[in-house]
Amino acid sequence: MTEPIRFSLNGCAVEARCRADMTVLEWLRLEALLRGTKEGCAEGDCGACSVLLKRPDPRGRSAFQAANSCIMLMGQLDGASLVTVEGLAAMRTGAQSGHPVQLAMEENGSSQCGFCTPGIVSALAGLLDRQSGSEDADHTLAEDDIHDALAGNLCRCTGYRPIVEAACAAASQQIAPLPDHPVGSPNAVTGEDSSQMLHPATLDELLALLRQHTDATLLAGGTDISLDVAHARARWERVISTRNVTELRNISENADVLTLGAAVTWQEALPFVAEHWPSFATLIRRFGSTQIRSMGTVAGNLATSSPIGDGAPALLALGASLRLASSQDERTLPLDDFFLDYRKNALRPGEIIKAIHIPLTGSELDERRHAAFRVYKLSKRYDQDISTVCGAFSLAFEGDRVAGARIAFGGMAATPMRCTAAADALLGKPLDGATISAAKAAIAGTFKPMSDMRGSAAYRAMAAANLVDRLAHDLSGETVEVMAL
Ligand SMILES: Cc1cc2nc3c(=O)[nH]c(=O)nc-3n(C[C@H](O)[C@H](O)[C@H](O)COP(=O)(O)OP(=O)(O)OC[C@H]3O[C@@H](n4cnc5c(N)ncnc54)[C@H](O)[C@@H]3O)c2cc1C
Ligand code: FES
Ligand code: FES
Repeated sequence: MTEPIRFSLNGCAVEARCRADMTVLEWLRLEALLRGTKEGCAEGDCGACSVLLKRPDPRGRSAFQAANSCIMLMGQLDGASLVTVEGLAAMRTGAQSGHPVQLAMEENGSSQCGFCTPGIVSALAGLLDRQSGSEDADHTLAEDDIHDALAGNLCRCTGYRPIVEAACAAASQQIAPLPDHPVGSPNAVTGEDSSQMLHPATLDELLALLRQHTDATLLAGGTDISLDVAHARARWERVISTRNVTELRNISENADVLTLGAAVTWQEALPFVAEHWPSFATLIRRFGSTQIRSMGTVAGNLATSSPIGDGAPALLALGASLRLASSQDERTLPLDDFFLDYRKNALRPGEIIKAIHIPLTGSELDERRHAAFRVYKLSKRYDQDISTVCGAFSLAFEGDRVAGARIAFGGMAATPMRCTAAADALLGKPLDGATISAAKAAIAGTFKPMSDMRGSAAYRAMAAANLVDRLAHDLSGETVEVMAL
């Protein structure tokens, strides 16, 4: 039976009877008449629609995170807690009304047009909430944390300096917990009969639903697919969410492999990835924005099979494999064999990605060798931009010679792709000028990239090859850290 969508809104339990595929932004502004949350781009880019969302988590680790309400569906709210700028304004800070970020921004003259401001306030309130809730909270925020939190919020008039100053001022204050009224676990089916979201709790339930409803839309974070609703006005009768499937929310690690369940978000994966591959973690911090990373999943990124998806080159270079599941069987597929053509992959009807396995010790490695992993994203803007080219290099050394190499690129072909010729050019050789030239020639010979608004074919070919130079400088310790690449 279809149930209303139940969630906490600014600390009050509410029930919404609406289409499950209605965007949260539309509901807030048109149904709840909470118009502080603004629509700018309606595609997750500008942050004007940012709200704070806390979702139930079987692993018991949930916190409010900024998210874009323009690409979030009402069905995704069931069992969750939502705070909008109106909820922040109703908080008390000492004798005053308002969240400390709001008061500091007012005091500091940090807002001009005001249109982007509610989203900026929400993003910063989310950062301060997590900071004050963390075990090592000392109320001093690094400026980098503030810039990270604001990477998904565009302000075109005041500039960011007064905003960052306001965030620093607010961080020194006592921050009250955000308003919340937990409503319990999500119901199995929510929304209206004409548009439902199904929330299976186990993998078996999910696979049975996919078998039963072959026309249903499978949704993870919705940061890719929900653009069809937000922008193209698509209507979905039945959506199946992976979010509450316990098996898909697992992150586990043993001596050999890190396993990310298919409903694990980029934000959740980040600390585990950072422990093993700092360069991959740097890439994740540049993946969209905090809003996008808090919703978007690693599996969703691979399933889109976009040639410019950022996850694939790194995971191909690391030798990742996928565990795929359907109601009939399960199989393991090397990621090498997953991408078939432009946005086409090896998933069969009714089959899903269950987990991503990332080997911690590549089979090429043993204790006498040392390993190096680097991934480089080239994009027009540092933050909140899609790659023009992304190159990933996983090397193992014996002494000064390359004993194992896996190299992969995004943005260079119709699919993310390994460059075995470049890897072969490195094998058994020291990373000297002749070897680097051979690897660059192999890259130039392998790819025939296309020209588009992000870069010309000539730029892509040259930039991809030049990443071998960058790698060599990097590994020799010569790299100067640059902000914009
Ligand atoms: C503003 C903005 C910035 C972005 N920045 C970046 C960026 O920097 N780099 C980048 O690579 N991408 C970026 N993206 C794209 C997107 O955020 C990512 O691809 C994200 O990882 C998608 O994950 P999701 O969980 O939101 O997928 P969804 O949108 O939920 O799903 C995407 C597709 O995957 C399918 N799917 C989801 N889970 C599974 C599963 N378990 N098995 C099989 N199929 C599945 C869905 O059916 C759908 O077809 C950006 C998007 C936006 C809107
Ligand atoms: S309206 Fe621009 S991110 Fe949502
Ligand atoms: S204050 Fe709105 S764009 Fe800058």
